[in-house]
Amino acid sequence: MLGNFSYSNPTKLYFGEDSLNYLNEELPKYGKNVQLAYGGGSIKKNGIYDKVMEILKANGKNVFEDGGVMPNPTVEKLYEGVEIAREHKVDFILAVGGGSVCDYAKAVSISVHCEEDPWDKYYLRMEDVDNEIIPVGCVLTMVGTGSEMNGGSVITNHETKLKIGHVFGENVFPKFSILNPTFTFTLPKYQMTAGFFDIMSHILEQYFSGEDDSTSDYIMEGLLKSLIHSSRIAIKNPADYEARSNIMWIATWALNTFVAKGKTTDWEVHMIGQSIGAYTNATHGMTLSAVSLPYYRFLMPYGLQKFKRYAVNVWDVNPDGKTDEQIAEEGLFCMESYMKELGLVMNIRELGVTEEMLSGIADGTFVMEGGYKVLTHDDIVTILRKSM
Ligand code: NZQ
Ligand code: ZN
Repeated sequence: MLGNFSYSNPTKLYFGEDSLNYLNEELPKYGKNVQLAYGGGSIKKNGIYDKVMEILKANGKNVFEDGGVMPNPTVEKLYEGVEIAREHKVDFILAVGGGSVCDYAKAVSISVHCEEDPWDKYYLRMEDVDNEIIPVGCVLTMVGTGSEMNGGSVITNHETKLKIGHVFGENVFPKFSILNPTFTFTLPKYQMTAGFFDIMSHILEQYFSGEDDSTSDYIMEGLLKSLIHSSRIAIKNPADYEARSNIMWIATWALNTFVAKGKTTDWEVHMIGQSIGAYTNATHGMTLSAVSLPYYRFLMPYGLQKFKRYAVNVWDVNPDGKTDEQIAEEGLFCMESYMKELGLVMNIRELGVTEEMLSGIADGTFVMEGGYKVLTHDDIVTILRKSM
């Protein structure tokens, strides 16, 4: 049964090859002092930095640079960004990069006027934001996280080995996001495919919950089919605009809260993946690919009918003459073949996980209650061991 919900999404999107021009329409809405957050330098190599700078200058902005946002942004970097914002009385933060830069910009935006330690308040204690928030805009260069149209912000604390995502409310969503598929063409293959699987995982985390006749599940099956189709094209020809633009659009819809409405949702693959990330600093999408099949094979008996539906509706498995288990297993086998075709990381050893880390990773994994089974510590260790 469709649960009760409210729905709105405040992020305005500009999509397409000319979308960066719309920065000219958005910038005048905000104050003069702009913090420009970006990563380790890809935007300087591919020319996006120059294009954005030109528009910022043309709009008379004082630009305060905040580069070096690392993949899986750290709590130390967050404190550094907060200092930049405070020192220059920043009115607006423009994130130019992938999910890490966008998540980081949101973290800075809520922390500048926070009187307590933001890591403690917003990530460890998961409190709602009750202080002033600096508005954020995003120019996306890496597809996968959905951070461009959601309130998610994931920060890593290497000292305590915790990687925590807080899903903030609408007031923290980017005010606008600029989605130009051509900006993603320079992504290395490893990042591109990690992003593809991140999208798939976001959809599956929401799909594998409930056994009702939810419209969201039909929408997700469509998104999955389009993703599988377009990613197969993109892997052969990364400059295929149609495929890359479809994938960019799917990524946004996979995690902008829409398909989650009315569902309990799971998110356990992400919780395990995040804990692996805290131990290894591995690429987010690859932490998910490495644990997904062991997790879903473990989960299958608890949600058999949904796994059967997944096999038939997403992977076109012919159900004739087969048991429910056989159909469901064939679906996961098709998923495995597809993942190998994409060249995804299929085990956590490759990400640097060692036997000694397994119990600690399980300890650092948040246990969610919306999926088909509430995992115990031992369950998580079993899944991790199968992922080695
Ligand atoms: O730092 P630069 O030099 O820019 O290089 C980046 C980085 O090394 C590179 N890159 C990005 N755009 C590029 C490019 N290289 C060439 N050309 C381009 N156009 O790609 C690398 C990875 O970037 P990153 O932003 O780290 O990737 P992603 O978008 O996957 O973000 C990962 C972070 O987002 C969090 C993850 O946990 C992780 O911390 N997530 C955020 C979510 C949310 N907000 O809702 C949900 C997700 O499940 C996820 O947890
Ligand atoms: Zn993800």
